[in-house]
Amino acid sequence: MAEAGDNPLREGLRDARRADPGVMVIFGASGDLTHRKLVPALYSLFCDRLLPETFTLIGFARSLRDRQAFVDSLRAACDQFARRRPVDAAAWQRFAAGVTCVAGSFTRPEDFAALKQACEASDRERGTRGNRLYYLATPPASFEPIVWGLGSAGMVDRPFGAGPSTRIVIEKPFGHDLDSARALNATVHEVFDERQVFRIDHYLGKETVQNLLVFRFGNSIFEPIWNRRYVDFVELTVAESIGVEGRGAYFETAGILRDIVQNHMLQFLSLTAMEAPVAFEADAVRDEKVKLLRSIRPMPPGAAATHSVRGQYAAGSILGVPVPAYAEEPGVSPGSETDTYVALKLFIDNWRWAGVPFYLRAGKRLPKRVSEIAIHFRPAPHLMFRDLGTDSLQPNLLSMRIQPDEGIALTFESKVPGPAVRIRPVNMEFRYGTSFGQEPPEAYERLILDSLVGDPTLFTRSDEIDAAWRLITGVRRGWEEGRVPVRAYEAGAWGPREADALLAADGRAWRRL
Ligand code: BG6
Repeated sequence: MAEAGDNPLREGLRDARRADPGVMVIFGASGDLTHRKLVPALYSLFCDRLLPETFTLIGFARSLRDRQAFVDSLRAACDQFARRRPVDAAAWQRFAAGVTCVAGSFTRPEDFAALKQACEASDRERGTRGNRLYYLATPPASFEPIVWGLGSAGMVDRPFGAGPSTRIVIEKPFGHDLDSARALNATVHEVFDERQVFRIDHYLGKETVQNLLVFRFGNSIFEPIWNRRYVDFVELTVAESIGVEGRGAYFETAGILRDIVQNHMLQFLSLTAMEAPVAFEADAVRDEKVKLLRSIRPMPPGAAATHSVRGQYAAGSILGVPVPAYAEEPGVSPGSETDTYVALKLFIDNWRWAGVPFYLRAGKRLPKRVSEIAIHFRPAPHLMFRDLGTDSLQPNLLSMRIQPDEGIALTFESKVPGPAVRIRPVNMEFRYGTSFGQEPPEAYERLILDSLVGDPTLFTRSDEIDAAWRLITGVRRGWEEGRVPVRAYEAGAWGPREADALLAADGRAWRRL
């Protein structure tokens, strides 16, 4: 059988997405994200030959004084977190030959000068041709100083076309409300052109989230029923069984509404509900997402009381193991009102979705880790089996499992074999693992490669950030005015009772996952 590498056409396609020689600088390279996600993803891309042999990685952080110690810590991280394990010693050695570090502070111009020199040395010694990707993997308070530092050190070229490229990847959270996001965007635009800015949301790198576009717009049978005439309501869930995992201090400044809903959930809500883009191109896709985000009905403070629920986990147990309350986690202030669970009822005021509720829920310390989108279709209009003893039929349901067990299932009614007409729901399933014989790659692999090749389709544009924060800031305003009390739920339960009441008021219930 021919290998992928024997097929010139396929090989050509792979080449199109191979990164050019360049330097990637990670700010905050001593941190958790670099070790758990970024470097394991880079190592996988390198093994797949999607990075050039001369790929150069410079870690920048105050503590990075010893190159060998830095390389060793990255190797240990790959041993633990890389998708391909065990790490191949020869491949690692080639990858590590391009890794170095600069110790510095994000506010000292002389440290940026040293970084600039290290980048230029790489151009001379490793042929990296002036191409730069700056990756901000730091806490958000450092984003603005780094952007100014890069600008003042003359490390940002703004040419487009044939010259070397300079790009910046900015991690979340991008702002903590509408005003701060706007201020950050303004700073970034002082130094970078919007086309150079890649605001990352790792959910968009997940295969299942990308497949939403192919599912909706690469098939003809779903789109005609993807609207208010056929869809009764839509449910979006991001449930996690983990707590705040030592990030209590960060979580106190965020809460789940900002940590998960403002970015990840609004991103996949927009892909689920947007109109068809004219092409699979960055701006065509992002234009549609922005339109959709702008059509979500704003939630004024009064509406937050009836359309949102916020919760915080109390002590409980996950899979039989006792776990402490959020309020007892390190870094959490006593009497904290931070949300670790949120449920929202949203409406999209456009022709396609008028009147269809979108229920969103996200929570920490729920019984299991599962993210999915569930499209609930309207019930059959006429019950012709009533005389045979069937008083109700279950409406069709399409569930798109983002993780784990990535796949799509369609539930429909079926006759139970036998002489009587007995009806029960059955499932038609697609699973990535079974159909493609492989697990999807890590989201960060896809997104880092996209930023290296300069494809912003799966990154968030400044106007999307604005639209998302506008909605979330409105919800928070209602909360801050005291209209939505924080409800306790036991760790290991599916959120507070009030979240069930939110749907029960509409005669509905959350899906049992
Ligand atoms: C991050 C949040 O963005 O996403 C975390 O800050 C959360 O709180 C994580 O746990 C979830 O990501 P994933 O890929 O594990 O679903």
